[in-house]
Amino acid sequence: MTNKVDILLGLQWGDEGKGKLVDVLTPRYDIIARFQGGPNAGHTLEFEGTKHVLHTIPSGIFHSTVTNLVGNGVVIDPVVFAKEIAALRVKNVPVNDRLLISRKAHVIVPTHRLLDRASEASKGEAKIGSTLKGIGPSYMDKTGRNGLRVGDLLDEKFPQLYEALKQKHIHLLKGFEAFYTPQEGELDAMEKEFMEGVAVLKSLTIVDSEHYVNRALLEGKKILAEGAQGSMLDIDFGTYPFVTSSNTVAAGACTGIGIAPARIGEVIGIFKAYCTRVGGGPFPTELTDETGEHMRKVGNEFGSTTGRARRCGWLDLPQMKYACMINGVTQLIMMKADVLSDFDTIRVCTHYQTAEGLIDYLPYDIDPSKVQPVYADLPGWKMDLTGMRHDHELPDALTGYIAYIEEKLGVPITVVSVGPDRTQTIVREKALA
Ligand code: GDP
Ligand code: IMO
Ligand code: MG
Repeated sequence: MTNKVDILLGLQWGDEGKGKLVDVLTPRYDIIARFQGGPNAGHTLEFEGTKHVLHTIPSGIFHSTVTNLVGNGVVIDPVVFAKEIAALRVKNVPVNDRLLISRKAHVIVPTHRLLDRASEASKGEAKIGSTLKGIGPSYMDKTGRNGLRVGDLLDEKFPQLYEALKQKHIHLLKGFEAFYTPQEGELDAMEKEFMEGVAVLKSLTIVDSEHYVNRALLEGKKILAEGAQGSMLDIDFGTYPFVTSSNTVAAGACTGIGIAPARIGEVIGIFKAYCTRVGGGPFPTELTDETGEHMRKVGNEFGSTTGRARRCGWLDLPQMKYACMINGVTQLIMMKADVLSDFDTIRVCTHYQTAEGLIDYLPYDIDPSKVQPVYADLPGWKMDLTGMRHDHELPDALTGYIAYIEEKLGVPITVVSVGPDRTQTIVREKALA
């Protein structure tokens, strides 16, 4: 019998705390594999008083016991990648010994970043709020069958392949001239950095990752697939067009590392005790008042990749139900419960008021003009949680909030996080049993 792959993924609009939890769970696994996204991700880990932010490299990298794999579904910007590796080497992390790269992963080239900027500039008010890392254009080239893959970097024809793609992009950029033109010499400088990054990427261990992963499963190895972004940013099931360009949901792990659906084990869905979103697009429970401002301040809700302020609001159960359904979530992890400690009342959206009446599911269009959230009010716990380490220490009001969510979603909450540090994590053994 071969082993299965567990998946940890975000159930909201990203930044749920995936990096922290992957780091916490890593000792239980042999391989940590990223399956989609790219440098648009910012995964934060904290331990021994230091904060680390990863973009493309899996969050198991700080553990000597595991291999980290960047799967074929990821898009890699060699520039960002080389910077991440350099930052890890400064911290004495032997990256080369712990990291494998899929030969089939696609490469973000400098003109992808320029096209991302041009596309956003042309949209004006309707812009996505992209991280401008070249994600959309590189996935477009992947599905349009024009992309460059890591394997191509090793090919003697690479200079010609790169040049052909660049020329195609320059042609496309001309169409955006009314909205955006790169500065004089900008592309040359970007290309220089890119080629340096390519050299770093080529010095790493590049593998046929689908063979590697399936062989590892046959050998009984345990694999955790680490998601990026969140289910509501999924290209198919998210708030299109305000989404990213990959499948962030559980199915994405199959295509993103090359495993059959029957090889999926636990699907661990991670969510904040409230909700955030960065960038444009609908967010039914968004709070634009001082309550939202308080969440942002206490939760330090500023983007790990772009530094932008994150929009904040209450937990949205129709949205969470939808994410549990699409992903087949088998267990839930609740993050940042500590951020809500000051509130007398905790609100949870249970339904939406729509023109068709009250509904408890996520409809096609969740524009604020179409859905108004309806809330249940639960008592707050008004207690500092950050020093707590055991389930039995949690205040009754929080236990009640947890039970309420478990009942509404029909999935157990197995871990509760009460602070950014690795140690500020409560594993609820009762629920796991
Ligand atoms: P990711 O993209 O899902 O990995 O999440 P990010 O790293 O972008 O954002 C999560 C932020 O919340 C980071 O700054 C974490 O250090 C922080 N964080 C994670 N868990 C907790 C928690 O339980 N409480 C608090 N206060 N902060 C947390
Ligand atoms: P992690 O993995 C939060 C958002 C952007 C924008 C939209 C499209 O850290 O949770 P893109 O750069 O993909 O073209 O942006 O998606 N976005 C994220 N929001 N967390 C992320 O990653 C995100 N990655 C992209 O803000 O609205
Ligand atoms: Mg993040």
